[in-house]
Amino acid sequence: MIHRVVACAHANIALIKYWGKQTALGNLPATPSISLALDKLYTETIVTREEKGVDEFFLNDSPVEKTTKDRLLKYLNFWRSESLLDGTFSVHSSNNFPTGAGLASSSSGFAALATALGKFSNKKLNRSELSVLARRGSGSAARSIPGALAAFPVSANPSARRLLPPEKISWGMVIVVVNNAEKETGSSIGMELSRKTSPYYKSWIAQAHKDYQNILAVIKKDDFTKVGEITEANALAMHACMIATRPALVYWNGVTVDIIRSAKQWRENGLEVYATIDAGAHVALLARLDDLNKVAKKAKKIEGVEKAVICKPAGGSRVIKWE
Ligand code: PMV
Repeated sequence: MIHRVVACAHANIALIKYWGKQTALGNLPATPSISLALDKLYTETIVTREEKGVDEFFLNDSPVEKTTKDRLLKYLNFWRSESLLDGTFSVHSSNNFPTGAGLASSSSGFAALATALGKFSNKKLNRSELSVLARRGSGSAARSIPGALAAFPVSANPSARRLLPPEKISWGMVIVVVNNAEKETGSSIGMELSRKTSPYYKSWIAQAHKDYQNILAVIKKDDFTKVGEITEANALAMHACMIATRPALVYWNGVTVDIIRSAKQWRENGLEVYATIDAGAHVALLARLDDLNKVAKKAKKIEGVEKAVICKPAGGSRVIKWE
């Protein structure tokens, strides 16, 4: 019997965003999405079988707060209710980057946890099944299972699949961390609010489907300029929908806007870089691998920028060891 599993997954940032659920249950996305897994941002999770009769959860060595605990408990109960798992467990997760504040921690967190639980499972799970299970924890986590460049379609029970392996991707991202980024409305609550109240929700969903088809075509042609243009426009369309939500979901701060404007200026001066933003104030800058150093150097000079992390494409989730 397996006693302990260590698994790892990289965070991903979407080029085409997931914002909106088909129904409140099961994290079924209303928008298809495409993402890039990032080598410098990852979660390592140690799951240990315990005889205590209760599950326990720790993040970066501290017990998790109640909301996170309830969410994780529900997640383990889901595995047990599907007869994929039995027994009780302790879960120790550590992120090598700030948790919350829109830095994609749920993508790597649930992907690492699903990968570890998969090793304990009574059933042999393939990567597509693991992706579905990671999705039940957090939609974006489905994409961290295949990692690299991943596509996550809209369907009755979708999983994410890999479009390209890391070594075939000629671009990466600089994660620009801004000062004083506050913890904002979480993505599940935000998505539901947008669905119910944003006058732009329907057009956002329609546009996301078009952006998804268009980016697939230009990825095939390896046309970085088009990939970047669609990526930036898609993020801005999602934020337009968020901002129009009532009450408004304004995830940006002044520094976010300065970074978006700077990216445009650098582009006009010949450095090809495109901005994308999740449900937080930080910005991810998409650029060719050869340009990442230059982009990071420039980003660090913007007032209010705390750090700029150069990230290259990463692979999928994996079990590191078990005993
Ligand atoms: O996986 P969730 O429920 O945290 O949602 C992710 C939402 C965005 O980060 C804003 C977009 C995306 O596709 O990652």
